[in-house]
Amino acid sequence: MIKAVSTPNIALIKYWGNRDERLRLPAADSLSMTLDAPSVEVSMEEAGLFSLSSFEADGSEKKLNAEQIERCATHLKLMDIELGRLGHAVTRNSVKIVIRSHIPAGIGLASSAAVFSAIAKAYSAIRAPSLADADVSGLARLGSGSAARSIFGGFAALWTKTGNAEQIADEKHWRLHDVVLVPSATHKKVGSTEGHASAHTSPLFEDRLKEIPRRMEECMNAISRKDFEKLQRVSEEDALDMHAVMRAQTPSLDYLNDDTHRILKEIESLRTSEHLEVLYTMDAGPTVHLICTDAALSRIKAYAETQKACTVFTTSIGNGSRLI
Ligand code: DP6
Repeated sequence: MIKAVSTPNIALIKYWGNRDERLRLPAADSLSMTLDAPSVEVSMEEAGLFSLSSFEADGSEKKLNAEQIERCATHLKLMDIELGRLGHAVTRNSVKIVIRSHIPAGIGLASSAAVFSAIAKAYSAIRAPSLADADVSGLARLGSGSAARSIFGGFAALWTKTGNAEQIADEKHWRLHDVVLVPSATHKKVGSTEGHASAHTSPLFEDRLKEIPRRMEECMNAISRKDFEKLQRVSEEDALDMHAVMRAQTPSLDYLNDDTHRILKEIESLRTSEHLEVLYTMDAGPTVHLICTDAALSRIKAYAETQKACTVFTTSIGNGSRLI
């Protein structure tokens, strides 16, 4: 029995849109920070037939629908094809998978990056134990694009050219935190898989693709120099641009709500008046991630506690997926 554990990541340069939907090959590069919590644990063993069960943070069994089971079965098939391509022996056996999520429901952190990176980590340990992490990240991407980045700790880039992720700096390089604010009226209408597929219908999408190489460069530079102001400028520019692209898609996707917009305004004025190192970013939902330095953490947590309409969850930079 193999056990792997993994965590979500939060993108600073967002992944939005694919150049190959089935293989989840992103249309552009992206860059994220891996979080140290909450975790997802995957147990896996060889079995004649594929089986999948999943348990929630409170220990109760999660009823999986046909689509979720199919997504996992497809992931295994795609991983087999990729492992064959990488020169690893193909087997007829399947696997039995048990997922234990420690991600509390409704905290606005999607579990897919953590789940599919843990599955790829465990599956490669069974099928191809010598596989390099870059290739393991390529396997994770076949389940969920952003999962490729959770294979690595610290900061990781997912390159469209290779389809693999790469570590930019490890978790000890810069201790940043993510104070997650989840507006209670959270309702995710369209999931990211569906959203990616219509990204190209946005008239703003082509311009976004042109801007990404410069933003990646600036983001990597800001991380290597620990230049928070630069990181803030480029990541907020990218997050707002992704949401503009989403709104201009057909059908239009407007994930942000009034609480999101209010929090962004309050954070902008708080960081100016108190000179705080804090930046905001949002994924495919109204949840606001406030990424901040050690120096700003207590003030940002205090601000978050005043947000009675939100669930608050605090997490820090983490070390990526691993076998346990
Ligand atoms: C907005 O990785 O969730 O969070 O491959 O369909 O699972 P799937 O998509 P996913 O897309 C993430 C989109 C995002 C931005 C990001 O994390 O980079």
